[in-house]
Amino acid sequence: MELLFYTLAGLIVIVVIAVSRKSIVAGMDARSDVKRDNKPGDIKEEVEDITNENIEKTNEQVKIINQIDDLILIVDKFKNIKFFNNSAKKKFGENNLNKHVATLLRVPDLLQNIDLVLSKKETITMDLELSSPSFQFFKVHLFSGPTSFVDDPDTVILFLKDLTDIIKAQRFKSDFVANVSHELKTPLVSIKGFLETISGHAKDDLEAQKKFIPIMLEQADRMESLIKDLLSLSRIELQEHIQPQDKVNLKEILSNVEDIHQKNLKSFEFKNNIKDDFFIKGDYEKLIEVFSNIIDNSIKYSEKNKKIEINCGQGNGKVIGDSYIVSIKDNGIGIPTEQLPRITERFFRVDAAKSKKVGGTGLGMAIVKHIVNQHRGELEIKSEPQNGTEIKVHFSKF
Ligand SMILES: Nc1ncnc2c1ncn2[C@@H]1O[C@H](COP(=O)(O)OP(=O)(O)OP(=O)(O)O)[C@@H](O)[C@H]1O
Ligand SMILES: [Mg+2]
Repeated sequence: MELLFYTLAGLIVIVVIAVSRKSIVAGMDARSDVKRDNKPGDIKEEVEDITNENIEKTNEQVKIINQIDDLILIVDKFKNIKFFNNSAKKKFGENNLNKHVATLLRVPDLLQNIDLVLSKKETITMDLELSSPSFQFFKVHLFSGPTSFVDDPDTVILFLKDLTDIIKAQRFKSDFVANVSHELKTPLVSIKGFLETISGHAKDDLEAQKKFIPIMLEQADRMESLIKDLLSLSRIELQEHIQPQDKVNLKEILSNVEDIHQKNLKSFEFKNNIKDDFFIKGDYEKLIEVFSNIIDNSIKYSEKNKKIEINCGQGNGKVIGDSYIVSIKDNGIGIPTEQLPRITERFFRVDAAKSKKVGGTGLGMAIVKHIVNQHRGELEIKSEPQNGTEIKVHFSKF
């Protein structure tokens, strides 16, 4: 649907360019009419008027073309750039006039299509995908000149509609569905296998049933927690634009989180150093979810008896206005530096096998990030393999 919309919008701009192309031809026709209808003495003046009018018209059209988000380039028969609008300048840089188009877009199909338009004077539409320096996707319409910007019939107008964000979102959606299906399918297949065994050849084997039923329950728990996390994520995403407004106390929230994880925290050298009240604008339950996920990670990714410490103090300007920082620091296995930027991606796990063993699906930190965003807070993650991880969350004071 969105693709269709953008294609239509693209076509409208093409029509504008095509009309401007016509206006130059009309201008030429008008000049020949003048020759027929006027006395020889008036001809020079009349032609100047019409030419000035055309220049004004062209300037206006350039103004419009420079306002649009789409990229417009015009190349000559040598494929050298003769015109480019502001959006193209923004994308490729200022000093590209007269450079070969391949210096900006080294795509054999595009160069071939430019040749085709030059020789056959027909309009071509193509998809253009670039992977360097980052993924970019354009719908490109190529059609032949002249235009009022470049008065040469041996030119090709390249109209590039940037669809990167839409295509990225589409691919993200299908990757997401694939990930969810895979994560749900694995425990389901194992439950089904065990059920077949205990209802088939191990029907009367009490030992086998004793062994398999706890595993099936564990797999069912895994599916349940995955679905819970997915629902939580989609709920948070829907509300991300609404900043929570309640007055909540970070001391109370972290003491509650400590209670929730008390049983597991007993095996660690755990310290909650928050003694004072720290009031922020927030949603109590959602903040419990944030710190619960972070503490859960410290527990899952640290060996027993290691230190886990919670602190809270004054902020340092990472968020607007006066702020507080909560820090949760562990002495666990840490995260490799190159993986740090990916920690908040859905389903990302540094070591999928290890994570799975401790019951992780890779959604916890994605949830944390979205809730912190909703609170207009900031997340800071520092980590060193073998030395542990510190997660700081910045919030504006109430
Ligand atoms: N404190 C930590 N120490 C070491 N690694 C961590 C820590 N926190 C997160 N990670 C790494 O980041 C990954 C993503 O964390 P996240 O909380 O999103 O997923 P998870 O813990 O695997 O699963 P879930 O939280 O959904 O149960 C983890 O799999 C782990 O590899
Ligand atoms: Mg987690």
